[in-house]
Amino acid sequence: MAKRSPRYVCQSCGASFPKWSGRCEACSAWNSIVEEMPRQSAPGGLSGSGGRVIRFAALDGSAPDAAEAGPRWTTGIAEFDRVCGGGLIPGSATLIGGDPGIGKSTVLLQAVARLSRGAGGAALPCAYISGEESVDQVRLRARRLGLDDAGVQIAAATAVRDILASLDRADAPAVVVIDSIQTMYVDSLDSAPGTVAQVRGSAHELIRLAKERGFALLLVGHVTKEGLIAGPKVLEHMVDTVLTFEGERGHQFRILRAVKNRFGPTDEIGVFEMTDAGLLEVANPSALFIGERRAEVPGTAVFAGIEGTRPLLVEIQALVSPSPFATPRRAVVGWDSGRLAMVLAVLEARCGLAFAGKDVYLNVAGGLRITEPAADLAVAAALVSAASDRPVAAESVVFGEIALSGEVRPVSQMEARAKEAVKLGFTEVFAPAGRSKGRDGAWSGIELHEIAHLMDLIALIASERAPALRSHEGG
Ligand code: TYD
Ligand code: MG
Repeated sequence: MAKRSPRYVCQSCGASFPKWSGRCEACSAWNSIVEEMPRQSAPGGLSGSGGRVIRFAALDGSAPDAAEAGPRWTTGIAEFDRVCGGGLIPGSATLIGGDPGIGKSTVLLQAVARLSRGAGGAALPCAYISGEESVDQVRLRARRLGLDDAGVQIAAATAVRDILASLDRADAPAVVVIDSIQTMYVDSLDSAPGTVAQVRGSAHELIRLAKERGFALLLVGHVTKEGLIAGPKVLEHMVDTVLTFEGERGHQFRILRAVKNRFGPTDEIGVFEMTDAGLLEVANPSALFIGERRAEVPGTAVFAGIEGTRPLLVEIQALVSPSPFATPRRAVVGWDSGRLAMVLAVLEARCGLAFAGKDVYLNVAGGLRITEPAADLAVAAALVSAASDRPVAAESVVFGEIALSGEVRPVSQMEARAKEAVKLGFTEVFAPAGRSKGRDGAWSGIELHEIAHLMDLIALIASERAPALRSHEGG
């Protein structure tokens, strides 16, 4: 019989090697390689050897679908519930990722406190298990947040075996928070807590119990420098919902975003403000993101975006200045730098604007990160405005996708974007030509500038008078 030799498998990407090493050559992860013994298979494989017969069912059976499987548990924090797809689902697992210190522990403590008080319906027994803080520290935080009277059970623990033993009973809590999954360990594995194998093993055990006992499991996951949830991508596949908590540390705004949801829409965001009394909901984020806007400043444009199901206005700022460097700088905050390079190239090649030898800075106000291609036109407007030192009309919003030809393409939900603009007192819309015509409802009371090509946008901004001229006229 052939001698069995072990394989060494990266727990992060699944690559397999004949020899152990500290770093995976395939995905560059450190300490992710684990020895695995191939199982000896019986001759003829597994077939015919005592497996249990599984029963098949028809697709149209009467099993309740997950979304209707019963009431969702709502916290009463509307921004949180919406991102979860309408509330937590019994037996589901949710991962919340984010930078250290962004507010994950705070938002979850607030959420379970609301659940256990019954703010969104029936009062639910909740447990908060911290592997990072002592019971006293959690209590202190709860007191600061005015939540110390909520009936949340708190514990400090890191051994998954102990946690399982405590939760595996008929009267298990309805909602369990594990803060964080990187501090948990399974004692049957040799590796240290926080390693890929431990994170995966701990999550697997906890999720299994959540499904079995029907409690909603909330896992906190820290994020690595590269912005991935530390440990493995596999964690994202194991859970039902992945939320990320984002924001700039210097800003008070925090954005909870659903990046995966088996039971609801993704791309939904919830906006919070970090205050000394914890996280407060921001019910009208558009007003907040354009709140500090000063009109008539060249280099800014208001983008009418859609985040999830909700329209959102946000200011885009650009600065174009002569570069002292051989290779000019292109710095972007809140948008994709590849996309900026594309918009700059289209402006150069199709419209004759020159950005060579100039530094370009682009910033999305308020610490928001936008991913919609519909922001192209607003970015172009900010860039053209900055380069020509002429403001975009202060009472206008901009949206549209730019093609490499310089043409501007229609985007989704143009009416909803226009409506939000009207609601916030804007009177002009720079929108793609075509489909927007004819639907009068959303567009009444709006001056619509149809932009078929970037040249139209440049002409419109050029026709805008320079700010100096306006102030001379004495307003
Ligand atoms: P925390 O929830 O501990 O972050 P995470 O769990 O993601 O690491 O939040 C810590 C930060 O939030 C810390 O910098 C202090 C700030 N904070 C407030 O500003 N107000 C508050 O009421 C609380 C509890 C925290
Ligand atoms: Mg924390």
